[in-house]
Amino acid sequence: MLLTKEEEKILSGGEGAGKAKAMEILCAIGKIYGADRLIPVSTAQVAGVSYKTIGDAGLEFLSDFAAKGAKAAIPAFLNPAGMDLKNWKEMGIPERFAERQLRIIEAYGAMNIQSTCTCTPYLIGIRPKLGEHIAWSESSAISFANSILGARTNRESAVSALSSAIIGKTPNFGLHLDENRRAGLVVEVAAPISRMSDFGALGIIAGKAAKERIPAFTGLDPKLANEDRMKSLGAAMAAAGSVALYYARGITPEWRLADEPEKLERIAVEAKDLAEAKAKMQSADGLDLVTIGCPHCSLTEIREIAEKVKGKKLKVKLWVCTSRKVKEDAEKHGYVKIIGKAGGLVVADTCMVVSPIEEMGVKATGVNSGKAATYLPSLCRQKIRFSDIEELL
Ligand code: F3S
Repeated sequence: MLLTKEEEKILSGGEGAGKAKAMEILCAIGKIYGADRLIPVSTAQVAGVSYKTIGDAGLEFLSDFAAKGAKAAIPAFLNPAGMDLKNWKEMGIPERFAERQLRIIEAYGAMNIQSTCTCTPYLIGIRPKLGEHIAWSESSAISFANSILGARTNRESAVSALSSAIIGKTPNFGLHLDENRRAGLVVEVAAPISRMSDFGALGIIAGKAAKERIPAFTGLDPKLANEDRMKSLGAAMAAAGSVALYYARGITPEWRLADEPEKLERIAVEAKDLAEAKAKMQSADGLDLVTIGCPHCSLTEIREIAEKVKGKKLKVKLWVCTSRKVKEDAEKHGYVKIIGKAGGLVVADTCMVVSPIEEMGVKATGVNSGKAATYLPSLCRQKIRFSDIEELL
């Protein structure tokens, strides 16, 4: 990979140990993937925030990086942490976990990484434009940015996104290049898809079928496939098949098929396929907790939940996961109070997967998200009910 004089100076330590380490990481990645050069990125979204996922080794790595004087050179922000940074006691988070989690946030803060703690930065005003190069690392955020916004990011790891934040650049390969952004699988949606769980189940089916190809959907109704549902579709595909980019005819800003589109594999998804995919994900009888907000809820989704639970007393514990900014907006509209009166909790900065729910006695969780339904059994030892809010509450 060709470096400019300035980049070489950074690599050799001319601008401090922290920047040298970040440059070293980017150069190693660039070499592995055959990048020709580094290109500027406008923002970085850094995963690897929850103490549950990175542990003491991660905390030590970050503290060390911060001590080397590394600072973000571009706007950079965090993925969800393992708890609500303000109301963690209300969530029932163990003290020891909270203490370590706050130290992680502090280490990132020392590197000027903003503690937005959300997987939906695009819902709090961070919306890269068509063709804009970025370095994001949470799988559903990557999918949304590449697909719905038409921005360009690879599937960055926590460490590569952090390095990009510090240098302001990323190696030029993969989804930054036109030739790697062409669909290799056509998914014909032949079922009436309207509910959130339908989009999650469709994402599971398409994600499993993708096998490292970019899927292109036909047959989705643009009136029903709004941003909330498309974020759920993308998240489920990312979880089921590491899909980082997809197209949907008439919905996504780009539609690129590989050469000879008539020869592409096509699969049809029918109502019975969705029903089968949903049935396979059910493993819980009773529920300890219902969690909505994977990816993090928009204000519209929180309003819809508030309308559903208004005046009721919920029989099951409910968490509505979102970003701090959206929670503040929801507070202004009175939605947080309405949900609270019904017995639910609007939880900011975290989610059901990266918080330590299994340590808190939760064994069975209800979700309307294909991604959460995929990860909760393995990462949080949960039994699952996968359905829509109306059936879960
Ligand atoms: Fe976001 Fe957590 Fe789901 S990070 S996409 S809410 S697993």
